[in-house]
Amino acid sequence: GTALTRVVDRLDATLPLLARPYGLLSSRAKRLGDVYDMRLLLQQTTCMTGADAAEVFYDPRRFVRAGAAPRRLRATLFGEGGVQALDGERHRARKEMFMSLMTPEARDDLCDITARLWRERIASWAGDGRRAVLFDEVSELLCEAVCAWTGVPVTRPQVPAVTRVLLSLIDSPAAVGPRYLRGRAARRLADRWAAGHVVRARESETAEGTALEKIAGFRDTGGRPLPPEVAGVELLNVLRPTVAVARFVVFAALALHGNPSWRRRLQDDHAPEPMDAFVQEVRRFYPFFPFAAARVAHDFTWRGHQFQKGRRVLLDLHGIDHDPRLWDRPEQFRPERFLGWEPDAYSFVPQGGGDHYEGHRCPGEWATEDLMKVSVAALTRWMDYTVPAQDLRIPPWSAPALPKSGFVIAQVQARD
Ligand code: HEM
Repeated sequence: GTALTRVVDRLDATLPLLARPYGLLSSRAKRLGDVYDMRLLLQQTTCMTGADAAEVFYDPRRFVRAGAAPRRLRATLFGEGGVQALDGERHRARKEMFMSLMTPEARDDLCDITARLWRERIASWAGDGRRAVLFDEVSELLCEAVCAWTGVPVTRPQVPAVTRVLLSLIDSPAAVGPRYLRGRAARRLADRWAAGHVVRARESETAEGTALEKIAGFRDTGGRPLPPEVAGVELLNVLRPTVAVARFVVFAALALHGNPSWRRRLQDDHAPEPMDAFVQEVRRFYPFFPFAAARVAHDFTWRGHQFQKGRRVLLDLHGIDHDPRLWDRPEQFRPERFLGWEPDAYSFVPQGGGDHYEGHRCPGEWATEDLMKVSVAALTRWMDYTVPAQDLRIPPWSAPALPKSGFVIAQVQARD
């Protein structure tokens, strides 16, 4: 590169990364290759992209998660003591607990609750003829559904406030100023609230058979129950990301709006394959989780690059899902690419890569797909609506991303 790009590469990249959370890593990779260093949060940081890099990144002998997440992420999104920062046996045991919540029967229950709430919302939008901001409405709908499913008692009038707190945990980590501070306050509030539910679940039998009971009753590798605050963090690790699925639902609505032939196809053809393909392409195409972070477990060399023990490493998840070596015309939205084809565990990583049980790949991946399918069925088969003029652009500096308007729908009519 030019002298100027060489100087820029040596400066701290925190602000450029906040300005372009989805584009910066891959644009540097184009110049610097699949593995390169940059300064981030005043620390020398290694960035990796590509399917081969993902395979290395998800090898637990090479990378650990203790101390990997920057403090501002722990103070908002993750909390302290949760599964994200565990390694080895303790991670495996805790992860097993999350996976045990994701049986097909349990996911069916979550979908049934969600479907019922969709029908109710559709009837209410149709009844009062008002416009609805899909992001706000679906966030609340999913919040109500996941609280009912996990056994957390939340009354309907409480749903908007609980939703706001959970959303704040998600949209604050990459923010500066008041939004970041609101996120920290939301974390403190949510931690107290969730720990309270854990304590109550332990004292009574009301949570029997629910996810809350499993989390409250979980015993660590030492045989002891988790401290209520940590169990609360894990409860929030189910509630928060389920509400976050609303972003994917909005992206699905955006994709249906931009691809009328796919809307018609999903409306008419109720076979599972087109729905699967559409949902996978929404998860691949739209920006959500920009990268995952880990630390080097011990010194090793890969592709001639020295990985020093303790060094923070970022894996460019969004870049891998748009890597032209893995995807034909990656910048086009084409669900067809998923028809009759399944990607491997390292080339399609919107919710992380590798193995769900052994590594840190998202345990909620199947539930996410299920909830998206219910929601796409609702949008295509259960209702008619119009999309009034609005600002649907996705600002490139916001992570996680969302269309400006939150996707407004109008003139809703229930079908069937
Ligand atoms: C981990 C994305 C939904 C629970 C992750 C990771 C990503 C991710 C990128 C980290 C992978 C890594 O560190 O290597 C998403 C996205 C979702 C979503 C984009 C869509 C909204 C869910 C749902 C749940 C969930 C619905 C729970 C019901 C978790 C947990 C972890 C995790 C507990 C930590 C796993 C571990 O450290 O072993 N997710 N997720 N996520 N996700 Fe999700």
